[in-house]
Amino acid sequence: MQSKITGSRILITGGAGFIGSYVVEQLLKQSPEKIIIIDNFMRGSKENMRSFIDNPVVEFRLGDIRDLALLEDCVKGCDYVFHMAALRINACAADPQEGFDVMMGATFQLAQLCVKHKIKKVIYSSSASVYGLAQHFPTPETDNPYNNQTFYGAAKMWGEQLFRSFKFMYGLDYVALRYFNVYGPRMDTDGKYTEVMIKWLDCVRNGGEPLIYGDGSDSMDFVYVEDVARANIAAMEADATDEAFNVGCNRETSLKELLEALLSVNNSSLQPAFRPANSVNPVSRRLADITKAERMLGFTPSVSLEDGLIKLSSWYFELQKAKTAQ
Ligand SMILES: NC(=O)c1ccc[n+]([C@@H]2O[C@H](COP(=O)([O-])OP(=O)(O)OC[C@H]3O[C@@H](n4cnc5c(N)ncnc54)[C@H](O)[C@@H]3O)[C@@H](O)[C@H]2O)c1
Repeated sequence: MQSKITGSRILITGGAGFIGSYVVEQLLKQSPEKIIIIDNFMRGSKENMRSFIDNPVVEFRLGDIRDLALLEDCVKGCDYVFHMAALRINACAADPQEGFDVMMGATFQLAQLCVKHKIKKVIYSSSASVYGLAQHFPTPETDNPYNNQTFYGAAKMWGEQLFRSFKFMYGLDYVALRYFNVYGPRMDTDGKYTEVMIKWLDCVRNGGEPLIYGDGSDSMDFVYVEDVARANIAAMEADATDEAFNVGCNRETSLKELLEALLSVNNSSLQPAFRPANSVNPVSRRLADITKAERMLGFTPSVSLEDGLIKLSSWYFELQKAKTAQ
């Protein structure tokens, strides 16, 4: 059967970002007619798009999804939309007004434009944040969102409900993907909200003490970025609509285990140092039930945590080497 991607025109909001750039790379393998990317480089970069920025199939529009005229220009004529542009969870907390404008206002405008321009399907990047501290582990999609305490999680839940209501009112097809903890090359390394993995990799490079705040028992479900991109492609190709899917690995890893794995793949004998927790983390556990995505999208993660950490480490060390050589 021919791929729905072949010959299609596809818009990716936030396509210069971490996950979006991998989605573009995977889409390009199936010969789309056009891929339009809109990104304001708030976090994304030209470097993330290096492998495809000169591809004539790709049209990059530097701009903001809050710019309605520009957004309409991007949506017009497209068949499919991946909506990935968003602020990070801490950025939403730091500036809820901007969080509202980007995550809710612009998403609402986009949904309206998708109806107006008869988009065949929207693939919406949601988040495991919608669960807050979940009721069940592994967490199925049927767990309720009432434990979420963050503005970001509230905005993602609202986005899911927005598309649900637009499906009901206007027949706009969509799928929401609730990513768990995504990692891999191109993750943010020097922004304000650098992830703990990168800080620990700096310790491996410089011989510093890797710090764990709290007792290290908080857990996450790590999923490699290329697997997340594959889930996006599967969600577009599948007949599924009006559904939310967890995208994780169904493997629970504590912070302490994560550090051990990261040190082990780098043959490092560094010892962690524990510090008192500096903030209260209301979400102490994450573990995705991914049976629904397996059953309805044919999605199974393919990269183990160890293999993913090896890829992340070598990418990061190369990047640092290149920076010092400059
Ligand atoms: N990375 C994760 O662990 C994770 C987990 C759950 C959900 N998500 C969601 O997945 C999606 C992609 O996340 P990511 O990790 O690639 O983040 P990212 O920050 O790398 O990508 C988002 C992109 O959107 C762009 N953007 C932000 N505001 C914009 C605006 N107003 N106009 C135009 N572009 C704008 C940024 O420049 C960036 O390139 C987001 O919706 C995010 O909320 C990510």
